[in-house]
Amino acid sequence: MPTPDTRPSPATPHHRWSIDQIAFDRIAHERIVREDTWLYVLAAASFVESLSDLYTRNLLDYMADDSEASGWLREQWEPEELQHGRALRRYVETVWPGFDWPAAFDGFCADYRPYCKPELLAPTRALEMVARCVIETGTSGLYGLLHQVSPEPVLSALTGHIHHDEVGHYKYFYHFFLRYRETEHPSRWQVARVLRHRLSEIGQEDAYLALKNAVTVHHPDQTFGPQDFQRFQHMAGHWARIAYPYDMTVKMLLKPLRLPNFINRLALPLLVYQARRVVAP
Ligand SMILES: [Fe+2]
Ligand SMILES: [Fe+2]
Repeated sequence: MPTPDTRPSPATPHHRWSIDQIAFDRIAHERIVREDTWLYVLAAASFVESLSDLYTRNLLDYMADDSEASGWLREQWEPEELQHGRALRRYVETVWPGFDWPAAFDGFCADYRPYCKPELLAPTRALEMVARCVIETGTSGLYGLLHQVSPEPVLSALTGHIHHDEVGHYKYFYHFFLRYRETEHPSRWQVARVLRHRLSEIGQEDAYLALKNAVTVHHPDQTFGPQDFQRFQHMAGHWARIAYPYDMTVKMLLKPLRLPNFINRLALPLLVYQARRVVAP
């Protein structure tokens, strides 16, 4: 997948799509229906996306007096994240009709809500926008990867649409970061600290709890522990070695540091090398 343009211009025409355009009736079931790993990964992604209204509430309170940001969050960001959740859910329920999505989602919500408190927001708006850029970079990378490795064409199209949306979200959060940077003047060290902290959290409790609920609802006789999670990470590492968009994600992560161009050029190959070792050791 080519590196998308991540210029901080939310005025860029937005890639719009709707769930009605997804050809759920043309899914090539035989290509994916026996792949339990895909069921769990897609169900887990749909749970996290479907809980977006909870994150939006925290963020909306935090940004309440910023009409541009809160308007965008309410009118574009939240509906798009929820559409990701609905579309992934529909895909899962179409391919695996026996999977009890509502039960697994309820279990995930109960497990995950305690981790979603307003006090987990960053201490300033500029730094919170950096944290959001990291999250959107993570989701952009994930769906870029799923788009590439999907064994089934309708899923590939769907994850491609979601990937574009996530890159678009990144651009908006980056735009708001630039705006708050003017008044809050965060240092590069503060930005780097948020980047490091948020990166260390990616793929941790939300992914663990989402997968756990997907697996245990589908197979009530099974338990789910750290070793099972490691097996998923191993599989993800295998996919990542084939198709993870390393260049794109490292560029997106470096951007809020606003390093001089020559340092970016020096750092990029090294960081891409390191990212490969972290994502797919
Ligand atoms: Fe999303
Ligand atoms: Fe997003």
